[in-house]
Amino acid sequence: MRLTYFGHSTFLLETSQARIVFDPFFDDNPASPTKAKDIACDYLVVSHGHNDHCADALQIAQRTGATVIANYEICEYLAQRGAKTHDLNPGGGFNFPFGRVKLTLAFHTSSIELEKNPPYGGTACGVLVTADGKQIYHAGDTALFSDMALIGRTGLDLAMIPIGDNYTMGPDDALLALDYLRPKLAVPMHYNTWKKIAQDGDAFARRAALSNHPVRALKPGESLEF
Ligand code: NI
Ligand code: MN
Repeated sequence: MRLTYFGHSTFLLETSQARIVFDPFFDDNPASPTKAKDIACDYLVVSHGHNDHCADALQIAQRTGATVIANYEICEYLAQRGAKTHDLNPGGGFNFPFGRVKLTLAFHTSSIELEKNPPYGGTACGVLVTADGKQIYHAGDTALFSDMALIGRTGLDLAMIPIGDNYTMGPDDALLALDYLRPKLAVPMHYNTWKKIAQDGDAFARRAALSNHPVRALKPGESLEF
C-alpha cells in the first residue's frame, strides 16, 4: 500500500483496489505540489467541513465521479451540488468494495466554509480505513483524548496525526496520542502550512523514537510504502 502526502492533512492512499484521498486541500494549500485538477481517485474522505480539509472535494468529485465519504451534513451539502456521496456518522462504518471505512470521534469544531454564512457541518471526525489487511487511521483535526486508546486497540498499521498546535494537538500532546494509539508507523500532519502551525516534523520523529514510536515525517509530494 502506498501513501502520498500533499502537505497539511491531505493524503492519497492507494490500496490494491482503490485510490482514496483524505481531506482534499490542493489549490489553496501553499504546501501542495499538486493541483486539484490533476488528482485521480475513486473516493474522497472528508474529516470535517473546514476549508483546509474540504475545499476541493466538490470539484474533484464532480470531475472524477469519485464518491465522497463524510458525515451526514457534509454529504448532504455536497450531494445537493452534484457529488456522489456516502454518509456516515461517528461510530458507524460501512464495508465498501475495497474495504471498510469507519468514522471516529475527534475533538474539534466543524462548519462548511465553501460559501459565506457557512451551514452547520455536523461534528468533526477521524477516519479508520481497513483495506488489504491493514488498518489506517487519519485523526482529522483533533485535541488529544484518552479514547484514542480504543482506536489503538484495533491495531493500527499507520496513523496520520496532527502536530501543528494552535488548532489541533501540538507535538507534546501528539506524543501522548501515540502512547494511546500505538501505531506501527505514524506520519505527522497539519503543520508548516502557515506560520501559526510551524513545527519541525523531523524533530517530532526524533522525540517519538525515544519512546519507541516510529514516526516518519513526509515532505509534500513524498510517498511511502507500507
Ligand atoms: Ni479544522
Ligand atoms: Mn484544519
